[in-house]
Amino acid sequence: MDDIKNEKQAAAQEAVKLVEDGMVLGLGTGSTAYFAIAEIGEMVKNGLSVTAVPTSSRTEEQARSLGIHLVSIDDVDEIDLTIDGTDEFDLDLNLIKGGGGALLKEKMVARITNRQIIIGDASKLVDKLGAFKIPVEVLPFTVHYVKRMIDGAGGTGHIRMNGGDFYLTDEKNYIVDADFGLMDDPYSVSDFLNDVEGVVCNGLFLDMAELVIIGTSDGVEVYELEEEG
Ligand code: 5RP
Repeated sequence: MDDIKNEKQAAAQEAVKLVEDGMVLGLGTGSTAYFAIAEIGEMVKNGLSVTAVPTSSRTEEQARSLGIHLVSIDDVDEIDLTIDGTDEFDLDLNLIKGGGGALLKEKMVARITNRQIIIGDASKLVDKLGAFKIPVEVLPFTVHYVKRMIDGAGGTGHIRMNGGDFYLTDEKNYIVDADFGLMDDPYSVSDFLNDVEGVVCNGLFLDMAELVIIGTSDGVEVYELEEEG
């Protein structure tokens, strides 16, 4: 296993220590979340009883194969704990997510989660969000319209492709990856994107994470928000 994989696994192993019997869990998507789901699967085999909401068809498939009891996002009012990956995070624990295309369910799950735990390798920490383009999920018939709106607002919209076809999300929407450079104010960028007709969800996850756990070559580093006052 290479170093990055080891870091992802170390972060996942640390995060699952927060899982308790009887919890409703959110299961993230991506190569880091994969390790956490594998660990939870082992815990279920050893007697842990949890109910989980998957954030993508890939995660659903993995969790189902491990015997984790699943429900859909619409079946629960709240989620106790979610473990998910990220494409970037800053020291305010704001995130860019959706590189794997699962941002819509990931954001819905995060919104109703009491403790949102983010895991990753050391490359995910940035001073300012924005080197990673912001994934923006859009209704298919609005894809060029949304790109033009992003371009007109000083950004650059890149329509995500899969070979010669539009990239399709689980919900059969398209994605425009929006480049606004390194952002001083991700809140105003998020507000702008949410106001564009056709946008279903944007990949800025602001004020949602409680804890970020990063795997390192010799263990983990934990980032928490400083208490106010
Ligand atoms: C998927 C995501 C992932 O959490 C993000 O892309 C990080 O993935 P990985 O853990 O593979 O680096 O947001 O939509």
